[in-house]
Amino acid sequence: MDKFVIRGGNPLVGTVRVSGAKNAALPAMAAAILTEEPVILENIPDVRDIQTERNLLVSMGAEVELGYGRAHHRTTICCKNLVRPEAPYDLVKTMRASTLVLGPLVARFGRARVSLPGGCAIGARPIDLHIKGLEKLGATITQEHGFIEASADRLKGGQIVFDKITVTGTEDLMMAAALAEGETLIENCAREPEVSDLAALLNKMGARIEGAGTSTIRIQGVEKLHGARHRIIPDRIETGTFVVAAALTGGDLIVANCDPRHVGAVLQKVQECGVKIRANGDSVRVMGDNPLTAADLSTEEFPGFPTDMQAQYMALATQAEGASIITENIFENRFMHAQELVRMGANIKVEGRRAIVRGTTPLSAAAVQCSDLRASASLVLGALVADGESIIDRVYHIDRGYERIEEKLRSVGAQIRRIGEMLPKRAPAPLAAV
Ligand code: EPU
Repeated sequence: MDKFVIRGGNPLVGTVRVSGAKNAALPAMAAAILTEEPVILENIPDVRDIQTERNLLVSMGAEVELGYGRAHHRTTICCKNLVRPEAPYDLVKTMRASTLVLGPLVARFGRARVSLPGGCAIGARPIDLHIKGLEKLGATITQEHGFIEASADRLKGGQIVFDKITVTGTEDLMMAAALAEGETLIENCAREPEVSDLAALLNKMGARIEGAGTSTIRIQGVEKLHGARHRIIPDRIETGTFVVAAALTGGDLIVANCDPRHVGAVLQKVQECGVKIRANGDSVRVMGDNPLTAADLSTEEFPGFPTDMQAQYMALATQAEGASIITENIFENRFMHAQELVRMGANIKVEGRRAIVRGTTPLSAAAVQCSDLRASASLVLGALVADGESIIDRVYHIDRGYERIEEKLRSVGAQIRRIGEMLPKRAPAPLAAV
């Protein structure tokens, strides 16, 4: 298992480029199931979750072709010969977004068998809303041996009102409804940019979707979809992570190749902490030379402050003067990073869905462990300002969603390197017999 070794203390200075959004790329790849023609996706990030989704599609019989050299962020998917509409447990357990194939499979093939994901490090994360929605579109769904089996002759348009806002649920049902007979109206939808990006791709494939990016989406089902070429939007969470990294280290960083409109709440919050931000076109300049001041935060659905940036913000709050109250409203168990930051010297008290961070506390290097993707990012940020050399274990979590983060951070001045398993220098001496 790889680890990062990080020596803190360097401000981040220069320009860093943001990759394509993992959470937009995953549904876009699933959308390729809806047609027998090739779908060409540009700006696909080279991260572990994308490799998992490629493996999933290939295991079902899809042809997946990766671009070469300068085109290595291009993936072409052709689901003409897809023969096994099944997502096995081994893949779904490592990546919950695998459930995004459920809607497209049942819409195009009339059947799907997808492993139930089970709980994960950040909460219970049920998929009941995906299931209820598909039932509204006429699918018959059974659960047996840990699998969901869905079948339908042809899905029929219907009216779906989500009890709770769900990002992948909105995406899954939008894909299913694209091939259903008649009109579907989905209410209380997620408004995340990833939903709008998926709708843009589906419309290029011949779908008739209106309202993506608002809470009501209307879909006129069509008989067939065709191939398309689409460029994935920049990753707003990677953008936010670099913004916070620059603010935390007192750097002067240009975060390039991003969409500032997608990170409004994050930019506003770091500005509230005293950081100077200049956003224009497709970049954000962060000037973190002021002392940081505490600001409270509540996670919300888009356009609110994203839950996927909460852990990184907590690292920032340890270096802000005063108390910051951080409330996590989306997931019930998303404070695993707090204990690890405390091991580095932070003063954080977690009470249910709230964490109270008191700063400024100097952080000191420690050996810490990643528990999930965004928690890992928070530990990397903490280590960037800790005194001494930290060792971050289990970085496979960060590799799921950040493309070569250590190379990007090193290019703007961070002292960070990746190492493999550390072996003892010599075999331990045998214990003396007593
Ligand atoms: N929920 C239900 N039932 C459902 C679906 C969701 O109760 O059927 C609940 C969840 O348990 C949660 C809330 O609704 O409490 C919101 O969950 P949502 O469905 O929106 O999350 P998701 O679609 O599974 C996506 C991202 C997550 C991100 C969340 C929230 C992808 C592939 N994943 O997950 O990203 O945190 O939306 O914005 O898009 C990450 O990238 O690190 C990550 C976890």
